[in-house]
Amino acid sequence: MSSPRHATTDNGPITRVGVVGAGLMGAGIAEVCARADVDVLVWESTRELAAEGRARILDSLDRGVSSGKITERERDRAALRLRLTTDLGDFEDRQLVIEAVVEDEAAKTAVFRELDRVVTDPRAVLASNTSSIPIMKLGTCTSHPERVIGMHFFNPVPVLPLVELVSTLETGDAVRARAEAFAQQVLGKQVVHSADRSGGVVNALLVPYLLSAIRMAESGFATPEDIDRAMVLGCAHPMGPLSLADHVGLDTVKAIADSMYAEFKEPLYSPPSLLLRMVEAGRIGKKAGHGFYRYDSSRATAAV
Ligand code: 3HC
Repeated sequence: MSSPRHATTDNGPITRVGVVGAGLMGAGIAEVCARADVDVLVWESTRELAAEGRARILDSLDRGVSSGKITERERDRAALRLRLTTDLGDFEDRQLVIEAVVEDEAAKTAVFRELDRVVTDPRAVLASNTSSIPIMKLGTCTSHPERVIGMHFFNPVPVLPLVELVSTLETGDAVRARAEAFAQQVLGKQVVHSADRSGGVVNALLVPYLLSAIRMAESGFATPEDIDRAMVLGCAHPMGPLSLADHVGLDTVKAIADSMYAEFKEPLYSPPSLLLRMVEAGRIGKKAGHGFYRYDSSRATAAV
Protein backbone atom coordinates (compact mmCIF):
# COMPACT_ATOMS: atom_id res chain seq x y z
CA MET A 1 0.00 0.00 0.00
CA SER A 2 1.22 3.49 -0.84
CA SER A 3 1.38 5.98 2.00
CA PRO A 4 -1.11 8.88 1.63
CA ARG A 5 1.48 11.35 0.38
CA HIS A 6 2.34 8.97 -2.47
CA ALA A 7 -1.24 8.16 -3.29
CA THR A 8 -1.76 10.24 -6.44
CA THR A 9 -1.03 8.41 -9.65
CA ASP A 10 0.72 10.72 -12.06
CA ASN A 11 -0.51 10.64 -15.65
CA GLY A 12 0.80 13.98 -16.82
CA PRO A 13 3.90 14.86 -18.81
CA ILE A 14 7.22 14.30 -17.09
CA THR A 15 8.42 17.54 -15.51
CA ARG A 16 10.31 16.20 -12.46
CA VAL A 17 13.34 14.04 -13.14
CA GLY A 18 15.89 12.47 -10.82
CA VAL A 19 19.37 11.55 -11.96
CA VAL A 20 21.37 9.16 -9.80
CA GLY A 21 25.08 9.89 -10.18
CA ALA A 22 26.81 13.04 -11.42
CA GLY A 23 29.81 11.50 -13.15
CA LEU A 24 30.45 11.86 -16.89
CA MET A 25 27.12 10.39 -17.95
CA GLY A 26 24.93 11.50 -15.05
CA ALA A 27 26.12 15.10 -15.39
CA GLY A 28 25.42 15.05 -19.13
CA ILE A 29 21.94 13.57 -18.64
CA ALA A 30 21.14 16.11 -15.92
CA GLU A 31 22.37 18.91 -18.19
CA VAL A 32 20.16 17.96 -21.16
CA CYS A 33 17.14 17.59 -18.87
CA ALA A 34 17.76 21.01 -17.30
CA ARG A 35 18.26 22.53 -20.75
CA ALA A 36 14.87 21.07 -21.69
CA ASP A 37 13.33 23.07 -18.82
CA VAL A 38 12.70 20.05 -16.64
CA ASP A 39 13.14 20.20 -12.87
CA VAL A 40 16.20 18.03 -12.17
CA LEU A 41 17.33 16.60 -8.87
CA VAL A 42 20.75 14.93 -9.00
CA TRP A 43 22.01 12.53 -6.37
CA GLU A 44 25.64 11.95 -5.44
CA SER A 45 27.01 9.94 -2.54
CA THR A 46 28.90 12.78 -0.81
CA ARG A 47 28.69 16.56 -0.67
CA GLU A 48 32.12 16.78 -2.33
CA LEU A 49 31.05 14.59 -5.27
CA ALA A 50 27.80 16.54 -5.54
CA ALA A 51 29.76 19.81 -5.73
CA GLU A 52 32.06 18.31 -8.37
CA GLY A 53 29.04 17.09 -10.33
CA ARG A 54 27.44 20.52 -10.22
CA ALA A 55 30.69 22.12 -11.41
CA ARG A 56 30.90 19.57 -14.24
CA ILE A 57 27.39 20.47 -15.40
CA LEU A 58 28.00 24.23 -15.13
CA ASP A 59 31.30 23.91 -17.07
CA SER A 60 29.50 22.09 -19.86
CA LEU A 61 26.73 24.71 -19.91
CA ASP A 62 29.44 27.39 -20.21
CA ARG A 63 30.93 25.42 -23.07
CA GLY A 64 27.51 25.39 -24.71
CA VAL A 65 27.46 29.19 -24.45
CA SER A 66 31.01 29.67 -25.73
CA SER A 67 30.33 27.40 -28.71
CA GLY A 68 27.12 29.30 -29.53
CA LYS A 69 24.80 26.34 -28.81
CA ILE A 70 22.84 28.08 -26.03
CA THR A 71 22.45 31.66 -24.88
CA GLU A 72 23.61 32.93 -21.49
CA ARG A 73 19.95 33.23 -20.52
CA GLU A 74 19.32 29.56 -21.40
CA ARG A 75 22.41 28.56 -19.39
CA ASP A 76 21.23 30.52 -16.35
CA ARG A 77 17.72 29.11 -16.64
CA ALA A 78 19.10 25.55 -16.88
CA ALA A 79 21.31 26.15 -13.83
CA LEU A 80 18.23 27.20 -11.86
CA ARG A 81 16.53 23.92 -12.81
CA LEU A 82 19.27 21.86 -11.13
CA ARG A 83 19.46 20.77 -7.52
CA LEU A 84 21.92 18.35 -5.96
CA THR A 85 21.25 16.03 -3.03
CA THR A 86 23.02 13.26 -1.15
CA ASP A 87 19.72 11.71 -0.02
CA LEU A 88 17.89 9.37 -2.41
CA GLY A 89 14.86 9.81 -0.14
CA ASP A 90 14.42 13.22 -1.81
CA PHE A 91 13.40 11.39 -5.02
CA GLU A 92 9.95 10.44 -3.76
CA ASP A 93 8.14 12.93 -6.05
CA ARG A 94 10.16 12.14 -9.21
CA GLN A 95 8.16 11.00 -12.27
CA LEU A 96 11.26 9.66 -14.02
CA VAL A 97 14.53 8.59 -12.41
CA ILE A 98 17.57 7.86 -14.57
CA GLU A 99 20.26 5.88 -12.78
CA ALA A 100 23.80 6.62 -14.01
CA VAL A 101 26.15 5.33 -11.31
CA VAL A 102 29.33 3.37 -11.96
CA GLU A 103 28.98 0.39 -14.35
CA ASP A 104 28.81 -2.17 -11.54
CA GLU A 105 25.92 -4.55 -11.04
CA ALA A 106 26.01 -4.46 -7.22
CA ALA A 107 26.04 -0.65 -7.18
CA LYS A 108 23.15 -0.44 -9.63
CA THR A 109 21.00 -3.09 -7.95
CA ALA A 110 21.48 -1.27 -4.61
CA VAL A 111 20.21 1.94 -6.24
CA PHE A 112 17.18 0.19 -7.75
CA ARG A 113 16.26 -1.43 -4.43
CA GLU A 114 16.34 1.98 -2.79
CA LEU A 115 14.41 3.67 -5.63
CA ASP A 116 11.77 0.95 -5.38
CA ARG A 117 11.30 1.86 -1.73
CA VAL A 118 11.37 5.64 -2.18
CA VAL A 119 9.54 6.25 -5.48
CA THR A 120 6.18 4.73 -4.71
CA ASP A 121 4.08 6.11 -7.58
CA PRO A 122 3.55 3.01 -9.74
CA ARG A 123 3.52 5.18 -12.88
CA ALA A 124 6.94 6.64 -12.20
CA VAL A 125 9.53 5.36 -14.66
CA LEU A 126 12.75 3.90 -13.26
CA ALA A 127 15.40 3.95 -15.98
CA SER A 128 19.03 2.90 -16.11
CA ASN A 129 21.72 4.35 -18.33
CA THR A 130 23.69 1.12 -18.02
CA SER A 131 25.94 0.30 -20.96
CA SER A 132 25.84 -3.45 -20.53
CA ILE A 133 24.03 -4.78 -17.46
CA PRO A 134 20.81 -6.55 -18.47
CA ILE A 135 17.87 -4.38 -17.42
CA MET A 136 15.99 -7.42 -16.16
CA LYS A 137 18.61 -7.79 -13.39
CA LEU A 138 17.66 -4.28 -12.23
CA GLY A 139 13.92 -4.79 -12.71
CA THR A 140 13.88 -7.90 -10.57
CA CYS A 141 15.35 -5.92 -7.65
CA THR A 142 12.12 -3.95 -7.56
CA SER A 143 8.54 -4.80 -6.69
CA HIS A 144 7.36 -3.26 -10.01
CA PRO A 145 9.61 -4.57 -12.80
CA GLU A 146 7.07 -3.25 -15.31
CA ARG A 147 8.23 0.32 -14.60
CA VAL A 148 11.93 -0.41 -15.20
CA ILE A 149 13.53 0.32 -18.59
CA GLY A 150 16.96 1.07 -20.09
CA MET A 151 17.59 4.61 -21.34
CA HIS A 152 21.10 4.58 -22.72
CA PHE A 153 22.65 7.95 -23.56
CA PHE A 154 25.94 8.64 -25.36
CA ASN A 155 28.89 10.74 -24.29
CA PRO A 156 28.99 13.72 -24.69
CA VAL A 157 25.27 13.66 -23.89
CA PRO A 158 24.56 17.28 -24.94
CA VAL A 159 26.09 16.59 -28.35
CA LEU A 160 25.10 13.05 -29.36
CA PRO A 161 21.46 12.72 -30.42
CA LEU A 162 20.80 9.05 -29.63
CA VAL A 163 18.96 7.34 -26.79
CA GLU A 164 18.78 3.54 -26.92
CA LEU A 165 15.64 2.29 -25.20
CA VAL A 166 15.94 -1.20 -23.75
CA SER A 167 12.72 -2.91 -22.71
CA THR A 168 12.70 -6.12 -20.71
CA LEU A 169 10.23 -8.98 -20.87
CA GLU A 170 8.39 -7.18 -18.05
CA THR A 171 8.58 -3.51 -19.09
CA GLY A 172 5.09 -2.07 -19.42
CA ASP A 173 3.92 -0.61 -22.75
CA ALA A 174 2.93 2.64 -21.03
CA VAL A 175 6.39 2.92 -19.46
CA ARG A 176 8.09 2.39 -22.82
CA ALA A 177 5.80 4.98 -24.44
CA ARG A 178 6.44 7.48 -21.63
CA ALA A 179 10.22 7.06 -21.78
CA GLU A 180 10.18 7.35 -25.58
CA ALA A 181 8.03 10.48 -25.53
CA PHE A 182 10.32 12.06 -22.94
CA ALA A 183 13.49 11.29 -24.92
CA GLN A 184 12.04 12.50 -28.21
CA GLN A 185 9.65 15.29 -27.37
CA VAL A 186 11.24 16.77 -24.26
CA LEU A 187 14.96 16.11 -24.81
CA GLY A 188 14.81 16.22 -28.62
CA LYS A 189 16.77 12.96 -28.91
CA GLN A 190 16.29 10.21 -31.48
CA VAL A 191 15.40 6.77 -30.22
CA VAL A 192 16.32 3.26 -31.26
CA HIS A 193 14.94 0.19 -29.52
CA SER A 194 17.02 -2.76 -28.40
CA ALA A 195 16.19 -6.09 -26.87
CA ASP A 196 17.45 -6.58 -23.32
CA ARG A 197 20.85 -7.99 -24.29
CA SER A 198 24.08 -6.92 -22.62
CA GLY A 199 25.44 -3.91 -24.52
CA GLY A 200 22.38 -3.20 -26.64
CA VAL A 201 22.87 -2.29 -30.31
CA VAL A 202 25.67 0.27 -30.04
CA ASN A 203 28.00 -1.51 -27.65
CA ALA A 204 27.51 -4.89 -29.37
CA LEU A 205 29.20 -3.22 -32.36
CA LEU A 206 31.42 -0.63 -30.67
CA VAL A 207 33.04 -2.67 -27.90
CA PRO A 208 34.63 -5.39 -30.10
CA TYR A 209 35.99 -2.54 -32.26
CA LEU A 210 37.55 -0.75 -29.27
CA LEU A 211 38.96 -4.00 -27.87
CA SER A 212 40.39 -4.92 -31.29
CA ALA A 213 42.16 -1.56 -31.44
CA ILE A 214 43.61 -2.16 -27.96
CA ARG A 215 44.79 -5.64 -29.03
CA MET A 216 46.35 -4.07 -32.11
CA ALA A 217 48.29 -1.54 -29.99
CA GLU A 218 49.21 -4.27 -27.49
CA SER A 219 50.69 -6.51 -30.19
CA GLY A 220 52.77 -3.71 -31.71
CA PHE A 221 50.86 -4.01 -34.97
CA ALA A 222 50.66 -0.17 -35.08
CA THR A 223 51.13 2.75 -32.71
CA PRO A 224 48.12 4.21 -30.88
CA GLU A 225 48.48 7.42 -32.92
CA ASP A 226 48.51 5.55 -36.21
CA ILE A 227 45.55 3.37 -35.23
CA ASP A 228 43.58 6.50 -34.37
CA ARG A 229 44.73 8.46 -37.42
CA ALA A 230 43.81 5.52 -39.64
CA MET A 231 40.19 5.51 -38.49
CA VAL A 232 39.82 9.31 -38.44
CA LEU A 233 41.41 9.88 -41.84
CA GLY A 234 40.43 6.62 -43.50
CA CYS A 235 36.88 6.21 -42.25
CA ALA A 236 35.92 9.76 -41.24
CA HIS A 237 35.27 8.77 -37.62
CA PRO A 238 35.25 11.86 -35.36
CA MET A 239 37.90 10.23 -33.15
CA GLY A 240 40.00 7.09 -33.34
CA PRO A 241 39.21 4.03 -31.20
CA LEU A 242 41.93 4.57 -28.59
CA SER A 243 40.97 8.23 -28.14
CA LEU A 244 37.38 7.08 -27.89
CA ALA A 245 38.27 4.44 -25.27
CA ASP A 246 40.01 7.21 -23.26
CA HIS A 247 36.93 9.40 -23.73
CA VAL A 248 34.52 6.70 -22.49
CA GLY A 249 36.91 5.72 -19.66
CA LEU A 250 38.97 2.53 -19.73
CA ASP A 251 37.40 1.37 -16.46
CA THR A 252 33.99 1.65 -18.12
CA VAL A 253 35.19 -0.08 -21.29
CA LYS A 254 36.50 -2.94 -19.15
CA ALA A 255 33.27 -3.15 -17.13
CA ILE A 256 31.19 -3.26 -20.32
CA ALA A 257 33.46 -5.91 -21.85
CA ASP A 258 33.21 -8.01 -18.67
CA SER A 259 29.39 -7.91 -18.73
CA MET A 260 29.21 -8.67 -22.43
CA TYR A 261 31.70 -11.52 -22.11
CA ALA A 262 29.71 -12.92 -19.17
CA GLU A 263 26.56 -12.86 -21.30
CA PHE A 264 27.84 -14.08 -24.68
CA LYS A 265 31.14 -15.93 -23.92
CA GLU A 266 32.37 -14.39 -27.15
CA PRO A 267 36.21 -14.07 -27.18
CA LEU A 268 35.98 -10.72 -28.99
CA TYR A 269 34.31 -9.28 -25.87
CA SER A 270 37.03 -10.50 -23.53
CA PRO A 271 39.10 -7.55 -22.21
CA PRO A 272 42.72 -7.73 -23.39
CA SER A 273 45.56 -7.82 -20.84
CA LEU A 274 46.74 -4.31 -21.75
CA LEU A 275 43.31 -2.94 -20.83
CA LEU A 276 43.38 -4.81 -17.50
CA ARG A 277 46.86 -3.50 -16.67
CA MET A 278 45.95 0.08 -17.58
CA VAL A 279 42.89 -0.02 -15.36
CA GLU A 280 44.95 -1.52 -12.51
CA ALA A 281 47.48 1.30 -12.99
CA GLY A 282 44.75 3.94 -12.80
CA ARG A 283 45.37 4.98 -16.40
CA ILE A 284 41.68 5.07 -17.12
CA GLY A 285 41.60 7.78 -19.75
CA LYS A 286 40.70 11.42 -20.04
CA LYS A 287 39.01 11.71 -16.65
CA ALA A 288 42.26 10.58 -14.96
CA GLY A 289 44.49 12.71 -17.22
CA HIS A 290 46.18 9.54 -18.50
CA GLY A 291 45.11 6.67 -20.72
CA PHE A 292 46.38 5.86 -24.18
CA TYR A 293 47.17 9.59 -24.24
CA ARG A 294 48.05 12.16 -21.62
CA TYR A 295 45.58 14.99 -21.12
CA ASP A 296 46.11 18.52 -20.09
CA SER A 297 42.76 20.28 -19.48
CA SER A 298 40.98 17.53 -21.44
CA ARG A 299 43.20 17.89 -24.54
CA ALA A 300 45.32 14.97 -25.68
CA THR A 301 48.97 16.00 -25.49
CA ALA A 302 50.91 12.80 -26.18
CA ALA A 303 50.45 9.11 -26.69
CA VAL A 304 51.98 6.82 -24.08
N1 3HC B 1 27.09 21.62 -25.10
C1 3HC B 1 26.68 21.86 -26.35
N2 3HC B 1 27.44 21.61 -27.45
C2 3HC B 1 28.68 21.14 -27.25
C3 3HC B 1 29.18 20.89 -25.97
C4 3HC B 1 28.32 21.15 -24.86
N3 3HC B 1 28.68 20.91 -23.61
N4 3HC B 1 30.42 20.41 -26.11
C5 3HC B 1 30.71 20.38 -27.43
N5 3HC B 1 29.65 20.83 -28.11
C6 3HC B 1 29.52 20.93 -29.55
C7 3HC B 1 30.49 21.95 -30.14
O1 3HC B 1 29.90 23.22 -30.13
C8 3HC B 1 30.67 21.44 -31.55
O2 3HC B 1 29.57 21.81 -32.35
P1 3HC B 1 29.76 22.17 -33.91
O3 3HC B 1 30.31 20.92 -34.56
O4 3HC B 1 28.38 22.51 -34.36
O5 3HC B 1 30.71 23.32 -33.92
C9 3HC B 1 30.58 19.92 -31.38
O6 3HC B 1 29.90 19.69 -30.15
C10 3HC B 1 31.96 19.29 -31.31
O7 3HC B 1 32.67 19.86 -30.22
P2 3HC B 1 34.18 20.35 -30.31
O8 3HC B 1 34.40 21.11 -31.61
O9 3HC B 1 34.52 21.05 -29.05
O10 3HC B 1 35.03 19.03 -30.29
P3 3HC B 1 35.31 18.01 -31.42
O11 3HC B 1 34.95 18.50 -32.77
O12 3HC B 1 36.70 17.57 -31.16
O13 3HC B 1 34.28 16.81 -31.08
C11 3HC B 1 33.33 15.07 -29.84
C12 3HC B 1 34.34 16.20 -29.83
C13 3HC B 1 31.93 15.64 -29.86
C14 3HC B 1 33.55 14.29 -28.56
C15 3HC B 1 33.55 14.20 -31.12
O14 3HC B 1 34.92 13.87 -31.24
C16 3HC B 1 32.75 12.93 -31.10
O15 3HC B 1 31.55 12.93 -31.35
N6 3HC B 1 33.44 11.80 -30.81
C17 3HC B 1 32.80 10.49 -30.75
C18 3HC B 1 32.16 10.32 -29.41
C19 3HC B 1 31.44 9.02 -29.33
O16 3HC B 1 31.52 8.14 -30.17
N7 3HC B 1 30.73 8.87 -28.22
C20 3HC B 1 29.99 7.67 -27.93
C21 3HC B 1 30.78 6.88 -26.97
S1 3HC B 1 29.95 5.38 -26.55
C22 3HC B 1 28.98 5.80 -25.26
O17 3HC B 1 28.95 6.91 -24.79
C23 3HC B 1 28.15 4.71 -24.71
C24 3HC B 1 28.73 4.00 -23.55
O18 3HC B 1 27.88 2.97 -23.20
C25 3HC B 1 30.11 3.47 -23.79
